[in-house]
Amino acid sequence: MTAGILARWADRLPSLGPATPRLSLGEGATPLVAAPRLAAAIAPGVDLHLKFEGQNPTGSFKDRGMVLAVAKAVEAGAHAIVCASTGNTSASAAAYAARAGLQAFVLLPKGAVALGKLAQALQHGARVLAVDGNFDVALRIVQDLAARHPIALVNSVNPHRVEGQTTAAFEIVEAWGEAPDALAIPVGNAGNISAYWLGFQRAVTAGAATRTPRMLGFQAAGSAPIVRGHPIDDPHTVATAIKIGRPASWRTAVAARDESGGAIEAVSDEQILRAWSQLARLEGVFCEPASAAGVAGVAQMHARTPFAPGTRIVCVLTGHGLKDPDRAIACAPTLAEVAADITAVERALLG
Ligand code: F0G
Repeated sequence: MTAGILARWADRLPSLGPATPRLSLGEGATPLVAAPRLAAAIAPGVDLHLKFEGQNPTGSFKDRGMVLAVAKAVEAGAHAIVCASTGNTSASAAAYAARAGLQAFVLLPKGAVALGKLAQALQHGARVLAVDGNFDVALRIVQDLAARHPIALVNSVNPHRVEGQTTAAFEIVEAWGEAPDALAIPVGNAGNISAYWLGFQRAVTAGAATRTPRMLGFQAAGSAPIVRGHPIDDPHTVATAIKIGRPASWRTAVAARDESGGAIEAVSDEQILRAWSQLARLEGVFCEPASAAGVAGVAQMHARTPFAPGTRIVCVLTGHGLKDPDRAIACAPTLAEVAADITAVERALLG
């Protein structure tokens, strides 16, 4: 197991002090892989790369922020943490709470969380409730709960979460000694786009890069409050991870967009699922549907106005495909059954 982000990036994490426990499950140091076959399909000429955050210990980028948030909670003497979640935050919170010996409390929107994520939260011993409402409602309740009880709130409104997530930008800069031209990323509660922007700015301040990338954020069309310019009361999308109508980090996401000369756009569920399938079939990378929103967005932008040849773009793939096996199976053809016999198998496979 690697030492994790608290050890690796101690000098870039201002809130990390001598009394902060160096908690780790080996998060960070995720693959940054070239995606030439995908680029040829969706944006010919673009130098496309994938930052596969599904390789973190609990299968999503949330581990980067959670390790710092939980370490700071331990430092502050907390015995319990709480979050609302579309799934990944709860899986990460439950795992790091277990690692640190804390109790995790989790509120999930009823019926709207992918199976793998729910399994993780339960298996790690979190106390999980399914709220009769959406993520935005659940977030409001846990904020009230944390205000009334000595329980640390570990949603991305906790600044330690965003700070920990800046380390992904540091890793991208470290790989090339410079920032890419653009970063494409799904946007839900908008903490991650805010964290990357902060991370790229801090990398420049630290002298590790000379410039910052354009930040390109993508929301699912049925859950696109920032694009529409108003909260969405009843968000919907197949990409349940980003089914959010009132993003907590709305303002910092808009600042990241505007200060970087970037964009935040909507992509349809159909575009998301197409990109999700292309990632798996052209590059061998299995992410969850929401994670493909950045790829769908790059395809959309390139079709409208092609990026200049050689433009280096990193798409952040935020979570692992095994989080949502139901969706993969639902999108696949029915499994053909065959007799246990070579001739029958030959006929079925080779025609
Ligand atoms: N991709 C995945 C796989 C996610 O789980 C999330 C957020 C996002 C993208 C969006 O990131 O919220 O920082 O803009 N999931 C949260 C959760 C809301 O509860 O797991 P964001």
